[in-house]
Amino acid sequence: MSTTYVFKDAETEAGAMLRHLAGMYDPFSERRLADARVARDARALVIAVGASSVAATLAGLAPDGEVIATDIDPQHSAADPRIDLRQHNVVTDPLPGTFDLIHARLLLGHLPQRIEVLGKLADALNPGGVLLVEEFEGTWGTSVLASPDPDADRLYGAYHDAFASVLRASGNDPAWSRRVHGAMLDLGLEVDTEGHTGTWAGGTHGCLLPRATAGAIREKLVAAGMAEADLDAFRQLLLDPRLKVKGNLALSTLGRRR
Ligand SMILES: C[S@@+](CC[C@H](N)C(=O)[O-])C[C@H]1O[C@@H](n2cnc3c(N)ncnc32)[C@H](O)[C@@H]1O
Repeated sequence: MSTTYVFKDAETEAGAMLRHLAGMYDPFSERRLADARVARDARALVIAVGASSVAATLAGLAPDGEVIATDIDPQHSAADPRIDLRQHNVVTDPLPGTFDLIHARLLLGHLPQRIEVLGKLADALNPGGVLLVEEFEGTWGTSVLASPDPDADRLYGAYHDAFASVLRASGNDPAWSRRVHGAMLDLGLEVDTEGHTGTWAGGTHGCLLPRATAGAIREKLVAAGMAEADLDAFRQLLLDPRLKVKGNLALSTLGRRR
């Protein structure tokens, strides 16, 4: 089993995938950051920022504080004078200090070292500080609500099966989102978890994300059993505005150090 980050070589589609992830989940993360009651002078760290606006939201919530945003490949993050953007590998590099708020979205599930990294993040919390970990619920299948193509359920099913197999082969734990709550309790944090999903039409973020993903890892999906013709039909369907789907379920787990 190879345990490298599954999208490591997805250069051409990586920017699109990260933008659609941000479009899907930034509003939900913003609500959770409001739940975290971030102080104006908070010191905040965003791990694996991607193209998300989470760091900018934190800079707005903590105008008298400091925001550091990191990623192993930070090229997709917009420049912002309020944010200290750094190249950083959360598995191997030390964290840059201690923090009142640490955010990590859609990262730990990919990392075989997720428990060790979660502990490392929790250890970097100041008293009263919050660790916010947000992940997809990996066993949740997208529901097709309406489609111009009667084959839509089968195409989605073929994609989910092949994608799950590719993720597992890369060391991803599809049940991780449901284990974060217990893992944070084990670390002595006060924990609260909320779920979120949205309804998406073809051509909008929730459909363009699987389209970009299917393009990025096409060979891996085919090797995992998805027929090339199905993959092309699936990517085409995801552009049709008559398609309506109930998208991925995300679980947002907030742990506060006492
Ligand atoms: C699925 S994306 C999520 C991006 C962003 N958190 C979001 O939710 O929109 C995963 C991100 O993790 C970054 N990444 C992967 N392995 C990493 C590591 N070991 N340390 C830091 N970042 C990493 C990738 O470059 C990518 O930006």
